[in-house]
Formats: sequence, C-alpha cells, structure tokens
Amino acid sequence: RPTYDFVIAANRLPVDRAEGENGTEWKRSPGGLVTAMDSVMRGRDGAWVGWSGEPGEAPEPFDDSGMHLHPVALSAEEVRDYYEGFSNDTLWPIYHDVIVPATFHRRWWAAYRTVNQRFAEELAKVAAEGATVWVHDYQLQLVPAMLRKIRPDVRIGWFNHIPFPPVELFAQLPWRGHLIGGLLGADFLGFQREDDAWNFQRACRQLEGYETEGDTIRVEGRTVRAAGLPISIDFADLESLARDPEVQKRAEEIRESFGNPQVLMLGVDRLDYTKGIRHRLKAYGELLRDGEFTPPDVALIQIAVPSRERVEAYKTLKDEIELTVGHINGDYSTVEATAVRYLHQSFDRAEMAAMYQAADIMLVTPLRDGMNLVAKEYVTCRIHDDGALVLSEFTGAATELGDAYIHNPHDIQGLKNRIVQAIKDSPEERTRRMKRLRDAVRSHDVQKWAGEFLDALQAVPSDEAQKA
Ligand code: UDP
Ligand code: G6P
Repeated sequence: RPTYDFVIAANRLPVDRAEGENGTEWKRSPGGLVTAMDSVMRGRDGAWVGWSGEPGEAPEPFDDSGMHLHPVALSAEEVRDYYEGFSNDTLWPIYHDVIVPATFHRRWWAAYRTVNQRFAEELAKVAAEGATVWVHDYQLQLVPAMLRKIRPDVRIGWFNHIPFPPVELFAQLPWRGHLIGGLLGADFLGFQREDDAWNFQRACRQLEGYETEGDTIRVEGRTVRAAGLPISIDFADLESLARDPEVQKRAEEIRESFGNPQVLMLGVDRLDYTKGIRHRLKAYGELLRDGEFTPPDVALIQIAVPSRERVEAYKTLKDEIELTVGHINGDYSTVEATAVRYLHQSFDRAEMAAMYQAADIMLVTPLRDGMNLVAKEYVTCRIHDDGALVLSEFTGAATELGDAYIHNPHDIQGLKNRIVQAIKDSPEERTRRMKRLRDAVRSHDVQKWAGEFLDALQAVPSDEAQKA
C-alpha cells in the first residue's frame, strides 16, 4: 500500500457516505473543520484518515477531490460510545463551559481509547518514513502519544478546533491525566486562542506537575510547544465565488422572495446549544414585540444544520427552537410575510455565498465557540463593503474581528441594542467596519494559518536533536 509524507487525521472524512437511490453516494460532511482542512489539503499530495459517517465496515481507501481518503471503521456501539457518548456528551460540554451538563461513563471512555488506538494504527500504516502527521480535534486526543509509541520517526502535530477549557472544568474529567498524556505525545499543539493554550499549559502544571517555560512543556527530556494559532478560511476562493454573477443573481432572488425587505437578517449554525440560537430568537422576538420593526420590512433566515441528532441535549434543543420559531411566526408573521424562515437543512457553498450576500445583518451569537468560520465567511462575501456582523464575544473570531458589533448573548437587552445599532448606524460607519473586518480575514487566511502551523511543527527540535 502507498504511504504519504503528509497525513492528516480527523474523526470525519471530508465526505460522508450515504445510501442513495443510485447506491452509495458521498456528500460533503458538516462543520468548520472540514471547510478549513479541505482547502488546506487541495494541491498537497496528502492522505486523510477518518470515519465515513456510517457505522459498519470501512470502505477501501479511495481518492476524492485530489485527496487520498483512508476510512476508519466504527461499529454501531462505537458510534454510540466513542462518538455520541464520550466525544459529544462528555468532552464537548466540558470544553464549551458546561452550557449543558457533561455525562461520564467508563464504558464510553473505554470505547474512546479503543477508537483512538485504531486511528493511531491506521496512521502508522499510511505515514511514510519521517512523515508529517497532523491530528485534529477533541475526538482524537490520545492519538499523538499512541502514534509516537508505534512510529517515533514521524513528526506529530495536533490542532484543537474547539476551545480548551479552564482547568477548573477540565479537572472534572476522571481521565484528565490520560488526555494530557495523550496530547503530550505531539511535538506541537495548536489552539484557537492564546487563552486556550494557556488553559492547557495550566492543566499540565497544576494537575500533572509538568514544568512549563513560556509556551513549552518539558516532557521526559523532550519539549512540546503549545500555542494559539487561530484558524481561517480560503478568502480568495470564497470571494471569487461571491463575485460569480450566478451567485449574485441568486442573492437577488432570495431578497425578492421576501419582497425586498429593508433588513434581512441571517443565522447559520449547526443545530448546537453552543451557538446561542435560542438567545438570538429571543432578542429578535422581543424586537418585533417592541415594535422596533415589523415584517415585511424585516425578516430572519435561520439555517440550522442537523447535527448529532441522537444525543439527548440536541433533541431537546431542536424542540425548543422549533417551538420558539412557531411562536414568533404565529405572533408576528402576516398573510404575506414570514417573520422567521427556519431551515433544518444544509446548503452547498454557492447557496451559502448567495445567502451571505443577501443578508444585511449576520447574527453570530454563540455562548462559546472555538472560532466560528461562518463569521469570517460572511465578511468575505461582502464584496461591496456593506452589511453588518453582530458577533458574540465568546467566539474565537471575536479576537480578530473586533470591528464587528460585539456583544454578550446572555445579555438579551445588550444584544437587542447591538442589532438596532447595526441597523441604524450610517452606511459610512458600516462600511468603515466592514473594510477592516475584510482586511483582517484577507491578511490571515487558511493557507497562512496552515503554513504557520507546519512551520511551528518543523521548528520544534526533534527527539534526536534534543537528546544530543
Ligand atoms: N455550512 C455549510 N452549509 C450550511 C451551513 C453551514 O456548508 O448549510 C458550513 C459553513 O459555511 C461553515 C461551516 O459549515 O464553513 C460551519 O463552520 P463553523 O466554524 O461556523 O461552525 P462548526 O459547525 O464547525 O461548529
Ligand atoms: C465542529 C467540530 C468538528 C466536527 C464538526 C461537525 O466543527 O470541531 O470536529 O466534525 O463540528 O460535527 P460532527 O459531530 O457532525 O462531526
């Protein structure tokens, strides 16, 4: 079997397997990790190790959009225990400020270890001698140390796409020492914000007694570096899609379908409790109640991409959101105009670009989010430097996008004020802000991010050099 000099591992492959009418079909899988890494992998002759999104046997390795995809199998029990359980019902809530309580099960932990070991073994087969292996996200935190044990010759990086929690929350995990040990198998650890890297360094010191100096951690004669490196998107590629006349025509059609409202607002999220969708709907509903504006002058499109639908907290949230949308529409829609157009579906890139162009106000209101690429995509598509981004201070994106209308989504009145301000500010003020937002994303795109990550990974002295 061929081996590769550049290999990445993520829980999911960039495409999901679905049984359609014409047999097996592959469609793009959800989430920001795939958006970012898909761009990074194009043009590199690399391999991507990940799960196909369905339980059962793994398909044979295959090529797709210039990438070599190596599926890893998960049984139905492993999907339940490793993916839905430990990854998304234990780690996800702990790493997102316990917005919902975390659940702990020893059986889930056992499955997490088993699956991480399987990923490490697959990587060991796919990586060439001295290869660069880049592991992604919270589902695979044990892989770095497991892989180093089998393949000490490869260089191992890990990037966390979500926040790393404060030590007080991380300490709740009964397996916290194993997670730290797993990560410290890497040479370089990347986080969305400096704060996340500091949280990790603090956990190493306080919980496991490691010595740290600056952003490095001493591990049995080696040093591991842990630093903040915010992820981004492919600005040039998305901007050129936004300039496509077909996309612009589609944006106009979308506005017309609402009767060309004065203010079209947009929310785009996976249906996830971290995204603050309920807070956003509450603020919007109150603005309608207050008579601040009324349909058809205003409308909201809320896209809620189906996500982790068998996990209890996600089911509850879906019911709550759908109830709230029903209330708002019942109270404030007219025979001709809908107050909230709610779409529990996912859309392709071109349709997303058209929606970003159609929307005057983008509502990004997470209670906690590692980065939030939707915010960066919106400003990228505003090719006329207009529109307004209303952005939660609890996103990684807020660190770089300080010219947005920044707010605390728990403060409903504050959020309402920010929305009204975004609407009432002069066009000149909105343009001033949008230009700076676009500069920030343009000058730090995903290629730059990947380059910085890989440079940092190469710069850590190798084991041999450190021993000498
Ligand atoms: N997205 C999409 N179709 C949709 C909704 C979202 O392709 O219908 C994409 C969106 O363009 C973005 C990603 O999904 O690239 C979401 O990334 P983000 O970082 O905002 O959130 P995550 O889902 O990773 O938490
Ligand atoms: C976030 C996570 C990714 C994950 C994605 C979609 O972006 O950081 O690791 O792939 O959400 O979630 P899912 O559970 O469907 O893979």
